[in-house]
Amino acid sequence: MARKKIALIGAGNIGGTLAHLAASKELGDIVLFDVIEGVPQGKALDLSQCGPIEGFDAKIIGSNDYKDIQGADVIIVTAGVARKPGMSRDDLLGINLKVMKAVGEGIKANAPDAFVICITNPLDAMVWALREFSGLPHNKVVGMAGVLDSARFSTFLAEEFDVSVRDVNTFVLGGHGDTMVPVVQYSTVAGIPVPDLIKQGRSTKERIDAIVKRTRGGGGEIVALLKTGSAYYAPATSGIAMAEAYLGDQKRLLPCAAFVEGKYGLDGLYVGVPVIIGAGGVEQVVEIDLDEEAKANFQVSVDAVKELLEACKAIDGSLA
Ligand code: APR
Repeated sequence: MARKKIALIGAGNIGGTLAHLAASKELGDIVLFDVIEGVPQGKALDLSQCGPIEGFDAKIIGSNDYKDIQGADVIIVTAGVARKPGMSRDDLLGINLKVMKAVGEGIKANAPDAFVICITNPLDAMVWALREFSGLPHNKVVGMAGVLDSARFSTFLAEEFDVSVRDVNTFVLGGHGDTMVPVVQYSTVAGIPVPDLIKQGRSTKERIDAIVKRTRGGGGEIVALLKTGSAYYAPATSGIAMAEAYLGDQKRLLPCAAFVEGKYGLDGLYVGVPVIIGAGGVEQVVEIDLDEEAKANFQVSVDAVKELLEACKAIDGSLA
C-alpha cells in the first residue's frame, strides 16, 4: 500500500515543526510548500537528514509549485503572516485572506479529496475563508485551536493541582482569541470535575479564574517572550494530533474550529466546538450543555467571530 501524503502549506516555524513531527511519526511522505524559493527545499533537505538518525523512511520534499501537493491525503495550512507592530487587525485580515484565497484555489485544483487543517490566524475567520475559496465539503476543512488552547489550560491545571498532565482533561470552546471559553465545568482531573476539586479545598475559584485568564492569553504570553514570532511547538503537535485522528480513523473527540449549523443555536459558522474526527473528517459536532456563565461567554465569542467574518466580507466581495 502506498504511503499517505501529507502536504504542509507554509514552511515557516510551524510548517517546519509539523514536517519533523509527521516524519518522525511516519505519517506519510511529506511535501513542504511555501512561496519563498529555497526555504521549503532547504528545510526538507535538513529534515530528510534526520531520517538516518531517527530511523524514518518518510520522503520530504520542498516545493513552490502547487502541483506537488497533488493527491495529498492531509493538508495542514500555516501560510500567512503574523501581526506586526503598527498593523491593524483589518490589515492582517486583508493579507491573510489573500493567502487563503491562493491556498484554497491551490487545494481545489490539486487535492480536492484531502482533509484540510487550518492553523493560520485569525483562525476562525481564516478556516471559514479557506473553506469558501477551496469549495471542499465543510466536514473536510477544520481549524486547529481548541486542541492547543486545551493543552495550555491542561498544562496550567496540572501545575496547579500538582498532578500528571496525563490525568487532566480540559475543554476550551469558542473562537481562538481573547474571548475563548475554557469550560471549567467539563475540565477534570482523572474524571473529577475542577469545581469538585475546588470544593475539596485543592484550589480556589480565584486561582482557577486566574488560570482561565492565563489560558485566554496563552498565545500572547509566548509572543511577548519570543518577541520575534509566535508559538510553534505546541501548535504543530496539536495539528498533528488532528491529522492522526483522521488518518487512523481514531474517532477522537477534540475541540476544533468546525462548521456548526443547527447546533449551539448557530446557523452556519466556524467556531470552536467538540467534534469527532475520524476517516470521514469531522464526523460529528457534539453539543454539550453549558452552564449560564459558559453559555454567555460562548455567545460573546461567537459574536466576535461573526464580526471578523463581516470584516472579511467587506474586504473580499466574493465572500459576501
Ligand atoms: N503561500 C504559501 N506560503 C506562504 C504564503 C502563501 N501565499 N504567504 C506566506 N507564506 C509562508 C511564509 O513564507 C512563511 O514561511 O507562510 C510561512 C509562515 O511562517 P511563519 O511566519 O514562521 O509563521 P508560523 O509561526 O509558522 O505561523 C503561521 O499560524 O499560528 C498561526 O498566527 C500564526 O498565522 C500564523 C501561522
